[in-house]
Amino acid sequence: MKVKPIKRHKAIQPLSREHHQGLLLSWKIRTGLSKGVSTKRIKTYVDWFYTTYLAPHFEEEEKHLFPILGKDNAMVKKAVAQHRRLDRLFKSTTELNKSLNRIEEELEQHIRFEERVLFNEIQKMATEQQLQFILEHHIETKFSENTTDSFWE
Ligand SMILES: [Fe+2]
Ligand SMILES: [Fe+2]
Repeated sequence: MKVKPIKRHKAIQPLSREHHQGLLLSWKIRTGLSKGVSTKRIKTYVDWFYTTYLAPHFEEEEKHLFPILGKDNAMVKKAVAQHRRLDRLFKSTTELNKSLNRIEEELEQHIRFEERVLFNEIQKMATEQQLQFILEHHIETKFSENTTDSFWE
């Protein structure tokens, strides 16, 4: 069965746009590893991306979006557990090769889950007031690339 994609409400669009940069992070890690770039170089970029964009993104979702379904919702529980696990992987400083491989894989899976399942459900369940609240409280962070060491090029 083909599922027609749901058009994102404009309140959720900024978070969806941030997912694009997240998927690009996975691609950069994959590319770096396959080109034999040192894990230390990759990790430096990954740390910057996590602190600057991804950690605030997780926080925003947990603070404003997930409460629409409630913390006991199974899909929300799954997403929060994925955030916790990714947070541990990003903060891990040993076995870099292993943790970078895990981040690459699990971040992509997490974003696909939100885009294909969770965000659709949230949009379906949210009231217009809830969406309006998100719209008014989201501070759009414009992505500005860190070009100190573009190892993926
Ligand atoms: Fe998330
Ligand atoms: Fe997300």
